[in-house]
Amino acid sequence: MSIKMERFLRLLCAACLLDAVLSQDMPYEERMAQIQACPPECHCPSNFPRAVYCDNQGLKSIPPIPPFTWYLYLQNNQIQVVSADALRNATQLRWVNLSRNKITSEGVEKGTLDAMSRLEHLNLDDNLLSWVPFPLPASLEHLSLSRNRISKIPDGVFFGLDKLTFLDLQGNKLMDDAVTEVSLKGLNNLVQINLAKNQLSSMPLGLPPTTTQLFLDGNNIDKIPTGYFKGLPKVAFLRLNHNKLGSSGVPNNVFNISSILDLQLSHNLLTEVPLIPAGLEQLYLDHNNIKSVSGSNVCPTDIDSVDANDSVPRLRYLRLDGNDIEPPIPRDVILCFRLLRSIVI
Ligand SMILES: *[C@@H]1O[C@H](CO)[C@@H](O)[C@H](O)[C@H]1NC(C)=O
Ligand SMILES: *[C@@H]1O[C@H](CO)[C@@H](O)[C@H](O)[C@H]1NC(C)=O
Ligand SMILES: *[C@@H]1O[C@H](CO)[C@@H](O)[C@H](O)[C@H]1NC(C)=O
Ligand SMILES: *[C@@H]1O[C@H](CO)[C@@H](O)[C@H](O)[C@H]1NC(C)=O
Repeated sequence: MSIKMERFLRLLCAACLLDAVLSQDMPYEERMAQIQACPPECHCPSNFPRAVYCDNQGLKSIPPIPPFTWYLYLQNNQIQVVSADALRNATQLRWVNLSRNKITSEGVEKGTLDAMSRLEHLNLDDNLLSWVPFPLPASLEHLSLSRNRISKIPDGVFFGLDKLTFLDLQGNKLMDDAVTEVSLKGLNNLVQINLAKNQLSSMPLGLPPTTTQLFLDGNNIDKIPTGYFKGLPKVAFLRLNHNKLGSSGVPNNVFNISSILDLQLSHNLLTEVPLIPAGLEQLYLDHNNIKSVSGSNVCPTDIDSVDANDSVPRLRYLRLDGNDIEPPIPRDVILCFRLLRSIVI
């Protein structure tokens, strides 16, 4: 049997197995009720009876959604209103995709979202929202609101959202006074927050200490307060590309965070390499105004003691291109970062 054929059969087999698993857990009567209630504008596949596909149909409103729907696809339409009526029977929703519609904040009818008491994923990317919709269901784990026109996070909207781990607010109109301790209160288990491409000029306040991935690219941030990351002991991925950070706005020790693995500071105004911790694995400093780099300045440990295994800096990837640094790479940089696999200069 050819490899291609074998792969095809394996895929086919995986598909039928998945099929059996997906339709098995739904009683016959429910499956029938679900198919009978399928709106003509939508596709309700019989082998995946909990999913309803109404995407790319030019819909101006949400059709009546069948009662046993878990996965609802409404993206790429012209929907303006999230109507309580259309969603009344759909009390079991887990995933809802409403991205690329024309939903305004006023168009989210009261009580619609919090009535979805099992909702885990909500995607409202590319709509016309001006504030974070509320109230949201406490079951929510993943909330995506990128590319709206959100300028406001109403106080307490996240209160009780203990399961929310992922929050995407990139491409909105958030200014410093919108992102505060009060507005973010309740995000007790947040892991990733994306605030890229907003209008922030300071580092956001009130981020929960569980934050692991913090994305702030494309704002106007020009300084980081001393000790800022003391409140964020789990930060591992920090992106601050395309901001206005100069070296005077970056306190000497501010990135010396033991949890950090990936630090991105491309396209800023830095004139010096900031102090980095030994555990850092990837560092992006391209397109700044750095003139020189030397091991004694950038090595997180004493170069002479780098021999001891546990103190070898973990840096594997370093970008320094788009600065004013003349090759070659100084020998002491190479001596310091023994694990370096790739350096772009
Ligand atoms: C909800 O279910 C009831 C009973 O099956 C049905 O009569 C009604 O039309 C449904 N409403 C919507 C909006 O789907
Ligand atoms: C939701 O729809 C968008 C298209 O607007 C698509 O890119 C995304 O993958 C969808 N998400 C899910 C979970 O289906
Ligand atoms: C960085 O932090 C570590 C402990 O987390 C500390 O031992 C070290 O002295 C700090 N480095 C500098 C230059 O402050
Ligand atoms: C570093 O670790 C290797 C094995 O992991 C060991 O063989 C070597 O002796 C160690 N070197 C030092 C200086 O501790």
